[in-house]
Amino acid sequence: MIISSPSDYREAARRKLPPFLFHYIDGGAYAEHTLRRNVEDWSDVALRQRVLQDMSSLSLETQLFDETLRLPIVLAPVGLTGMYARRGEVQAARAAASRGVPFTLSTVSVCPIEEVAPAIDRPMWFQLYVLRDRGFMKNALERAKAVGVKTLVFTVDMPTPGARYRDAHSGMSGPNAEMRRMIQAMTHPAWAWDVGVRGRPHDLGNVSRYLGKATGLADYIGWLGANFDPSISWKDLQWIRDAWDGPMIIKGVLDPQDARDAVAFGADGIVVSNHGGRQLDGVLSSARALPAIADAVQGDLKILVDSGIRNGLDVVRALALGADAVMLGRAFIYALAARGQAGVGDLLDLFEKEMRVAMTLTGAKSVSALDRTLIVE
Ligand code: GLV
Repeated sequence: MIISSPSDYREAARRKLPPFLFHYIDGGAYAEHTLRRNVEDWSDVALRQRVLQDMSSLSLETQLFDETLRLPIVLAPVGLTGMYARRGEVQAARAAASRGVPFTLSTVSVCPIEEVAPAIDRPMWFQLYVLRDRGFMKNALERAKAVGVKTLVFTVDMPTPGARYRDAHSGMSGPNAEMRRMIQAMTHPAWAWDVGVRGRPHDLGNVSRYLGKATGLADYIGWLGANFDPSISWKDLQWIRDAWDGPMIIKGVLDPQDARDAVAFGADGIVVSNHGGRQLDGVLSSARALPAIADAVQGDLKILVDSGIRNGLDVVRALALGADAVMLGRAFIYALAARGQAGVGDLLDLFEKEMRVAMTLTGAKSVSALDRTLIVE
């Protein structure tokens, strides 16, 4: 199929993937209201068009935690990325590095941290949940340090998993799930060959090395479920703050008070996020939550934002509303599923082109010029 825009990748991914994987990435929690609002609320932010501003030189570069980013974009941690394309985490990390942006490896990746980090020539970011198994946390931190990770992202909006009703229908979970997944794989031969056969082992690479045994999709649901810890609080992160020299980012902040608590804790950054509408349906979209959070922290830490960002215009809107950079989750997974590393590289190029047009027509010559004056209330 012809791919000319970021949204074409979603359709290409839908055609290629077994439904259990497409719906796992595409779906959200409960009735998916927040999932939809995330996308719609970005597109409702009206940009202020300016003309005749001599826009001959334009820079999209930005500094974040002592790193230079060619675009204000970071690839978000996404569990099971290696099920969407063969050794998917390596492919996505290479695409990100080739476009000068960071890649964040999920704890529950298929490829272990030791496979991904050496494949790229820039430091990788690493995501951790705050889990019950502190032995795992310690082990993960040691391994992250050993491969040169500096920036850690702590996902804190999952003390318990949200209800993803699509998963039971699609075969990700629910009755006869394993058999249904097998049938779906057989009827999606391009995926079955690329990932099902050549993409093995289908392990949770980081977890299986710690547990000392092979893991699989059942463990993704089982081990994580058993380890999510509803008792977590800021105190449980303190030992990590004391032990870790590099930047710590708290992902899953949607309220100004939590953002201020993150400053008090000593976080270097937050990700304003509702987990892509995958946790509590009915909460504010990121676009609506972001301005009050930006006002509350007043530059005391870096603000990233995710959930619903699907194109370069959304990036410009997010930065204009107060973010320093965005994270992309679904957007890059669709491209990875459709066309692997080349697809993710192309997606980032499309985002860049769209950002350039938006900045040229709003008169913003640099990332730091993106502020609320660009928005029409
Ligand atoms: C995991 O973080 C998920 O959203 O499925």
